Amino acid sequence: MADPMDPSPIITIERHILDEQAFHPQATGTLTNILYDLALAGKVIASKTTRAGLAEILGLTGDTNIQGERVMKLDRFADLTVARLTDHTGRLAGLASEENAEVIRIPEQYPLGKYLLVFDPLDGSSNVDFNMPVGTIFGIYPRQRDGGPAEPDEFLQPGRNLVAAGYIAYGTSTMFVYTAGHGVHGFTLDPSVGEFLLSHPNIRIPKAKYFSVNLGYQLYWTPGVQRFTEYLQGHEGGVKGLSLRYIGTLVSDFHRNLLAGGIFYYPADTKDPKKPTGKLRLLYEAGPLAFVAEQAGGYASDGNGPILDIVPTSLHQRTPLYIGNKELVDKVEEFVRALDR
Ligand code: AHG
Ligand code: MN
Ligand code: MN
Repeated sequence: MADPMDPSPIITIERHILDEQAFHPQATGTLTNILYDLALAGKVIASKTTRAGLAEILGLTGDTNIQGERVMKLDRFADLTVARLTDHTGRLAGLASEENAEVIRIPEQYPLGKYLLVFDPLDGSSNVDFNMPVGTIFGIYPRQRDGGPAEPDEFLQPGRNLVAAGYIAYGTSTMFVYTAGHGVHGFTLDPSVGEFLLSHPNIRIPKAKYFSVNLGYQLYWTPGVQRFTEYLQGHEGGVKGLSLRYIGTLVSDFHRNLLAGGIFYYPADTKDPKKPTGKLRLLYEAGPLAFVAEQAGGYASDGNGPILDIVPTSLHQRTPLYIGNKELVDKVEEFVRALDR
């Protein structure tokens, strides 16, 4: 425990962004407040994930979402929590969520703001019933038009346009990690005061230690991705000494690789017609994490080029994702160019 008489400042998310605002002369504090709204949503969701077994929040709702996936009660709870805490503030003009086929409109009685929120309310749903870590992913875009509720096409922006992005990791501790274009910063929830406090300033991805992929699908990958996987396992001049870690929650696998060094990838799956371009969604999974990865000195690609340059054509479009240490992501692009073209 830090020395209680230690005079050094206690850095909350608000103080950190206020300090950062020197970089954003045009900032009006709205972005700060949206991040605060998301931090509050994270605390509310964390209060349920830590008691999932007791809070009648386990199991399925019986519904199926736009992804054709069965909706967990915690998916629905997290989705409603983020929407309820952000839809009335006058900071957003609309929301796009993994759990909603259409754009979530701001209720008429509330003012419209100048930002758009895209989010995966609960990432790693399949892990909820087994006490495994899960997460929330978010991205904040500027509106492309003034006035009136945001239409779906306003959300179809490349990740390069993101003004902020990040995730909340519900694990052994609850962490809020974000970037607003000036580095990546991690905050850990201190449950005794209910506040996220700066614990990981200026995160930079270190030398690779891990690789994270579901080897169960290896048979269905292209030759370039197969060769890359052998390369990561040290074959024919490949990388020696990487450990395989795969939790099955993108936020957790990404967070570990961001802090310890490594690459996560979810390739296109040539067998499953539902996953011809992979399972992960561009708008609210790959894009926001690609922004974080690049801001931490890493890189994210769909196997051909930067995730951040892809212009979405639909809200829920999927993409292959290779994300982590730049030299490893560059390498998979090299194998794909050489063997899959
Ligand atoms: P979500 O729970 O939001 O649908 O995301 C689950 C994703 C992602 O978290 C993870 O990396 C991936 O599913 C795991 O997929 P497999 O079980 O096919 O490996
Ligand atoms: Mn997800
Ligand atoms: Mn999800």
